[in-house]
Amino acid sequence: MEFKKMRRTEYCGVIDRRYLDQQVVLEGWVNKKRNLGSLIFVDLRDREGIVQIVFKEGSSIFDIGDCLKPEYCIKVRGIVKERESKNPQIKNGDIEVICDDIEIYSKSEQLPFMIDDGFEVNDNLKLKYRYISLRNNKYQDIFRIRSKALNLFRGFLHNDGFTEVSTPILNKSTPEGARDFLVPSRLNKGRFYALPQSPQIFKQLLMVSGFDKYYQVATCFRDEDLRSNRQPEFTQVDIEMSFVDEDDVKEKMELLIKHVFNSMLDLNIKDKFIELSYEECMDKYGTDKPDLRFDMQIIDVKDDFVNSDFPMFKECIENYLEIRAIKAKGVDFTRKQLDALNSFVKDHFNAKGLIYIRYKDDQIVSSINKFLTDDYKNMLIEKYELKNNDCLFIIPGIKKTVLSALGALRLELADMLGILKDNTEFKFLWVKDFPLYEYSEEDGRYYASHHPFTMPNEDDIKYFETKEYSKIRAKAYDLVLNGEEIGGGSIRIHNDLIQNKMFEALGLSEYEVNEKFGFFVEALKYGTPPHGGIAFGLDRIIMFLANVNDIKDVIAFPKNKKGECLLSSAPGKVDDMQLRELGINIEK
Ligand code: AMO
Repeated sequence: MEFKKMRRTEYCGVIDRRYLDQQVVLEGWVNKKRNLGSLIFVDLRDREGIVQIVFKEGSSIFDIGDCLKPEYCIKVRGIVKERESKNPQIKNGDIEVICDDIEIYSKSEQLPFMIDDGFEVNDNLKLKYRYISLRNNKYQDIFRIRSKALNLFRGFLHNDGFTEVSTPILNKSTPEGARDFLVPSRLNKGRFYALPQSPQIFKQLLMVSGFDKYYQVATCFRDEDLRSNRQPEFTQVDIEMSFVDEDDVKEKMELLIKHVFNSMLDLNIKDKFIELSYEECMDKYGTDKPDLRFDMQIIDVKDDFVNSDFPMFKECIENYLEIRAIKAKGVDFTRKQLDALNSFVKDHFNAKGLIYIRYKDDQIVSSINKFLTDDYKNMLIEKYELKNNDCLFIIPGIKKTVLSALGALRLELADMLGILKDNTEFKFLWVKDFPLYEYSEEDGRYYASHHPFTMPNEDDIKYFETKEYSKIRAKAYDLVLNGEEIGGGSIRIHNDLIQNKMFEALGLSEYEVNEKFGFFVEALKYGTPPHGGIAFGLDRIIMFLANVNDIKDVIAFPKNKKGECLLSSAPGKVDDMQLRELGINIEK
């Protein structure tokens, strides 16, 4: 057959000794070329890997081989032969393909950076030429991991009787926590669609419609400040089930997550996930997403200092504030490190200060040494089982500040100790019993911690009558993995009476409720089953499965910190005509 009409017989990366003396047709990119005078060696690359192609002097195609440059896209035909000098470092380093025909599909300009450097080059350049970055094997692997994981999610849910249903992207703006991305309507001037922050309302409507078990791999949009675990456009595996309570959802979801992690990472996670209440998490770890790969819990040391003369402690005792601590074991902190930790809690968390009490070479060394009598010191050594180089870090002050500062300090210390580098341990945790409401001092009112359709804990419904809203716990749960929230959900309100109490506590009038989500409240009046669900942050889960720290690495075309796509320059300006059609005037 004419070479031009021949199709690829194999991927480059899979050619090995099994193909010896066979003719192969390969297609791919020139990874590297070496010209040794009478021989030209080309590493040809495709998604499966690399194979060495040889052009021999005297063959009719030698000159074409000679003009090849990195990233030319080509097709070659040749016979697989054993190499004379083998390269044991490479998977198929003992064979090569002696080329007898070649077609150059397209040439390549000099690349802005080399593919192999893809992970080290400047971030902006990497994003501008994202399609080149993605040629790197590491990215190719990540996106195969993503595809495989998604397949496992879908497989499990499909086999378990969940129906995948797509919900609209052009929606009505409903309050859900973050800011909406808005889309102006040409046909309805002055009115806007909102892109979904999640399919929350629609998945609940599907339960009203009797779908019983729904899921969707849903793209969600939130106009919020971006971080290494946050993108404005991200993917949820969104799930809802009817006739369930909290434990039913958690149980099923544990099976799903174990299925995905065990299959992907060849693990055997069997144990039931740990559960902690929000209050316990805050109390012991200073955060609602604690990293349980290490202990270092927050301890209450207030009772130990009731009689202390140290002014900061005295003030706390008098004003019924808190004195809490964490103990770091066996670290010989330098003065510089202690100062840095002090500034860390003061500058970032508004803590009054960080007091340390160290046990070093058989004595206590402390930033409040002169306020500690020998008896006191001995008591602390005994009570807190202080061994050489153990250190108590103490923060006094308002509970919220103290806990968040110690929570962050706990992570900072773990980082210093290298504990957070262990990516082979997976500590899953359900956090439950979140408060239903958050009080805003600034606005003088309550807000729903999750969304206004979250079911309150039955035991706390009495607090609606006494208006002690902060005592009401929600039937809401988050799944946390190694200090990262990878999923969140709740049981929803299916009953008018409770729904109205909820709105009342939020200070929403009937008119406001109707304006904001009247259509939804109405739907709940036509026989709503008890229901609940969860949404997993797929991108965050892939970060764990692919062992990367930046969410941008698991999204093919991500946005930068300012929400821009550096590749396409979105968001872009639009011409006046488009704006006129939408009835929009841009303020100069
Ligand atoms: P929630 O707002 O907790 O719940 O979101 C669910 C999960 O989505 C992930 N996530 C994000 N990932 C990347 N970038 C972001 N900007 C981002 N924001 C959230 C997190 C989070 O746990 N409708 C509810 C779910 C429910 O109640 O069923 C919801 O969206 O991993």
